[in-house]
Amino acid sequence: MDAVNDGNKASVQLNEVTKRFGDLVAVNSVSIEIQGGEFFSLLGPSGCGKTTLLRSIAGFETIDSGSISINKEEITHLSPQQRPTAMVFQNYALFPTMTVEENVSYGLQVKKVAKDQIRRRVSESLERVDLAGMGRKPVTQLSGGQQQRVALARAMAVRPNVLLFDEPLSNLDVALREQTRRELKLLQDELKVTSIYVTHDQQEALALSDRIAVMRSGALQQVGTPESLYRYPETAFVAQFLGGSNIIKDEKVAHVLTRGEERPSEKHVLSVRPEHLRFSGEGGVDMVVKSRLFLGTSVEWWLQAGGQTLRAWLPSEVEYGEGDTLIATEFRWVLADD
Ligand SMILES: Nc1ncnc2c1ncn2[C@@H]1O[C@H](COP(=O)(O)OP(=O)(O)O)[C@@H](O)[C@H]1O
Ligand SMILES: [Mg+2]
Repeated sequence: MDAVNDGNKASVQLNEVTKRFGDLVAVNSVSIEIQGGEFFSLLGPSGCGKTTLLRSIAGFETIDSGSISINKEEITHLSPQQRPTAMVFQNYALFPTMTVEENVSYGLQVKKVAKDQIRRRVSESLERVDLAGMGRKPVTQLSGGQQQRVALARAMAVRPNVLLFDEPLSNLDVALREQTRRELKLLQDELKVTSIYVTHDQQEALALSDRIAVMRSGALQQVGTPESLYRYPETAFVAQFLGGSNIIKDEKVAHVLTRGEERPSEKHVLSVRPEHLRFSGEGGVDMVVKSRLFLGTSVEWWLQAGGQTLRAWLPSEVEYGEGDTLIATEFRWVLADD
């Protein structure tokens, strides 16, 4: 038996979902179609509405307008308990006075699942997350990483059609976060349960997701696969948030870096990624080196050109020569932010 429903490749439809807190529009008419079995991330800076949208899907927030459906069946007005979703919270939200087992079985008891079923599902879920044999321990005796896995086991135990994650790795230290990220990816590849994952960490979103929605101020900016978003950002915001980008302000600098390519429209600005800047003996933009940061596999250069400071990442062995100019190996015209 699986720890989650078999064949439950539930799709999720968000249709013009809007959520306000007083005058603040926390989620602004968001429409997304998430495929069954997909690992879908909501990515954006703090305060852009990710948690609010996730809580709306779980039923912890009542939306002001729009609709939410799972497998095309509307769930907008169902209580959290009635929805086929389970959430893994940022702070785990475990019950500190309970054992691991009691925590994992909690949702099943609320749903009045039969006792022998509960036992079976709890041990299956704990096995899934590599915590078999830990059931009797008080949950507070576990490490942060283990507690995070208890929270995941608890979510899986109710066999949800959709798993919701709110920054589940953000409380872990860097090494553990990277390890847990990999484990989560392996688990997802195995389970294939539809997952919606909230994060402000672009690396995490890129590494885990089938598709990513980049959010800004409550609204969707762009939706796509990690590679397509990285290669073809449509806006300056996405270009800068995902992977970092230099937005070139100076017309003359843009003219030289693009070798005279025409700007598609007044609304477009030039975006050049740090890894696409190079030193050249001639033919580029005049520059002044401001700082050089050795990062091991690469060097980060801060370069003054045309009244702004540009960031370049170059292999460690590349040296700057007196009189070098700056060229771009790749660039992209993106829509300016309003
Ligand atoms: N319960 C609430 N009452 C009032 N404002 C809220 C509430 N929850 C969130 N907000 C506001 O809504 C916006 C979006 O918040 P949130 O969804 O938590 O963003 P994120 O998860 O992307 O950091 C923020 O401006 C936040 O202050
Ligand atoms: Mg949040």
